[in-house]
Amino acid sequence: MEDIHKTLKHSLESLGQKHTHLMAAFCLYGAYTVGSTALSWSWRLFKTFLRPGRNLFKRYQGGYVLVTGATFGLGLEYARQFADKGFNLVLVARNQEKLDGVKRKFKEEFGDIDIKLIVFNFDKPYTAEGYQPLKDALDQIEDISVLLNNVGVFKADYFKELDFGMIKTILQVNLVPQTIMPKFLLPKLLERSKEQGKRTVIINISSVIHYARRKCSSVCSATKCLVRLFQMC
Ligand SMILES: NC(=O)c1ccc[n+]([C@@H]2O[C@H](COP(=O)([O-])OP(=O)(O)OC[C@H]3O[C@@H](n4cnc5c(N)ncnc54)[C@H](OP(=O)(O)O)[C@@H]3O)[C@@H](O)[C@H]2O)c1
Repeated sequence: MEDIHKTLKHSLESLGQKHTHLMAAFCLYGAYTVGSTALSWSWRLFKTFLRPGRNLFKRYQGGYVLVTGATFGLGLEYARQFADKGFNLVLVARNQEKLDGVKRKFKEEFGDIDIKLIVFNFDKPYTAEGYQPLKDALDQIEDISVLLNNVGVFKADYFKELDFGMIKTILQVNLVPQTIMPKFLLPKLLERSKEQGKRTVIINISSVIHYARRKCSSVCSATKCLVRLFQMC
């Protein structure tokens, strides 16, 4: 470091600069900033695109992956990816027929995994009685290793256009499951990790809209901010 500093100082002196110490310090700081930024981006690129994926089944020693909103969209795909790795599944959504259809399809695709279904509509007022059936169903399931809180609604509309029903739905579906599912499952997850020495994880799906200050998604963006902040605490 000292050599570099001397060389830089010498080069600047030879250029006839005044305040050579200051200039050399600026150059070093610039080189450090460029170097560390380049290293950090290279590491991110490597992690995202080049590093081989982890063996999740081995890491979490199997168990059940619980996915909310699992009959369509991202939830369905997450469930498929976990099933493909050999995990058992607990699928939660509103519609029994759709859940049966997904179960049938996954059984054909992935054979011997166990799939449990929970029919529950998160679009309901948040009361202890209302959520009791969900809690009862969850209490009966052992060995949950991954909670994937995916369910959520998105409505792109100006705030003045959203009616009371839609605001209520966005708040209920985007906020309550994200906080109440960990509340219900945390004791089981902790027991699995502390007493059985097996890893567990909670994944909450937020969205890039939590960054976006867009007038046409104000309520949805705000709910996704909560999801992001909640999981950082
Ligand atoms: N799609 C995107 O581009 C995107 C981008 C960023 C983040 N996200 C986030 O990713 C998550 C999934 O998004 P998505 O677009 O895949 O959602 P989606 O296509 O609308 O999927 C909806 C799923 O949730 C279930 N569901 C809907 N309302 C429900 C309710 N009240 N109670 C229980 N289940 C309900 C539906 O099943 P039933 O109809 O059978 O109940 C279905 O399985 C959301 O949290 C979203 O904010 C999505």
